[in-house]
Amino acid sequence: MNKQAILITGGAGFIGSNFIHYFMDRYPDRNIVNIDKLTYAGSRNNLLEVEQNPNYQFIHGDIADEKLVTEVFQAFDITGVIHFAAESHVDRSIEDARAFVETNVLGTLTLLQAARDDWEKKGMLENRRFHHVSTDEVYGSLGAEGKFSEKTPYDPRNPYSASKAGANLLVKSFGYTYGMNIVISSSSNNYGPRQHHEKLIPTIIQKAFQGKEIPIYGDGKNIRDWLYVGDHCRALDIIFHHGNPNETYNVGGGNEKANITMAEQICGILDQMKPDIKSKLHVSSFKELIRFTIDRKGHDRRYAVDDSKLRHEMGWEPNEDLQKGLEKTVEWYVKQWELQASH
Ligand SMILES: NC(=O)c1ccc[n+]([C@@H]2O[C@H](COP(=O)([O-])OP(=O)(O)OC[C@H]3O[C@@H](n4cnc5c(N)ncnc54)[C@H](O)[C@@H]3O)[C@@H](O)[C@H]2O)c1
Repeated sequence: MNKQAILITGGAGFIGSNFIHYFMDRYPDRNIVNIDKLTYAGSRNNLLEVEQNPNYQFIHGDIADEKLVTEVFQAFDITGVIHFAAESHVDRSIEDARAFVETNVLGTLTLLQAARDDWEKKGMLENRRFHHVSTDEVYGSLGAEGKFSEKTPYDPRNPYSASKAGANLLVKSFGYTYGMNIVISSSSNNYGPRQHHEKLIPTIIQKAFQGKEIPIYGDGKNIRDWLYVGDHCRALDIIFHHGNPNETYNVGGGNEKANITMAEQICGILDQMKPDIKSKLHVSSFKELIRFTIDRKGHDRRYAVDDSKLRHEMGWEPNEDLQKGLEKTVEWYVKQWELQASH
């Protein structure tokens, strides 16, 4: 008998690696297979603490590689898939959308087909779960009022969100057409440790720490609902194990904040944490480094998530206070850079 395992895709990235740490702590007897292509966004350094754990297996590969993915299903008894792997940066998708379609759409299709083939052969199609980790960006952009619910029609506005909406539709279709046990979670913007430095929160921390200009798109008033990655991991655990088949669950942080507010809050934290750097830079606050830049093309104005379904049906709610979550996040990045500098 092959070893039973959960297949995680994209586990070397930001949310996937946080989830693997969370899952292995919470379920020390369960096995994880992590397939990751290690694009610029993925790093095995995110997983150093689990590399030697006999319950963890890393496979370096592409989820769109049909032969490899089929072999993974043959080598292990995959009892569920939690699918994180994606090209995830909106700015890159605006430059060139091809990789987004290849990974997010075709890669998702490849995984769905391999899971379906394997689980159908084993008579397990209805019992084994395929969980697609998706985004609130599929719903488009909001004005000053209202929130996205699970019933909001998809209205993606950039190639990244279009590719995620496409993947969602494929996942849903495998639920209806073949009776696969699928579930989708759509979360708002995450923040926390291990995120690639190209994204907003690490960029703000890094630029401030280095005494460089902190770039903020447009007027800085684009609003996101910030979710601490640890709260997202708990939500994913609950949805993967207890979500109803064919359902979507929104996951929000309950922290609607403009980008400029986030930048100022992070600068305030660094002012307290790194007064020595601040005085070397001859500024009274890191906020003086903030600069507005030309806006992103088609920049969605506001996202806000109605996650009452997850809260009411499954009793989940975010625990992390934004200020405390940001302090932990800033501390984590500062420690990484100080460690790097000392080597
Ligand atoms: N970061 C957020 O705020 C956020 C919010 C909502 C949803 N999501 C979704 O969550 C998932 C994870 O996001 P993230 O921020 O951790 O992304 P990330 O960019 O940090 O990580 C993506 C990971 O996928 C891997 N990968 C990319 N292409 C691959 C391929 N073809 N085959 C195998 N591995 C591949 C990368 O190497 C990387 O390790 C994505 O599906 C994203 O759409 C992210």
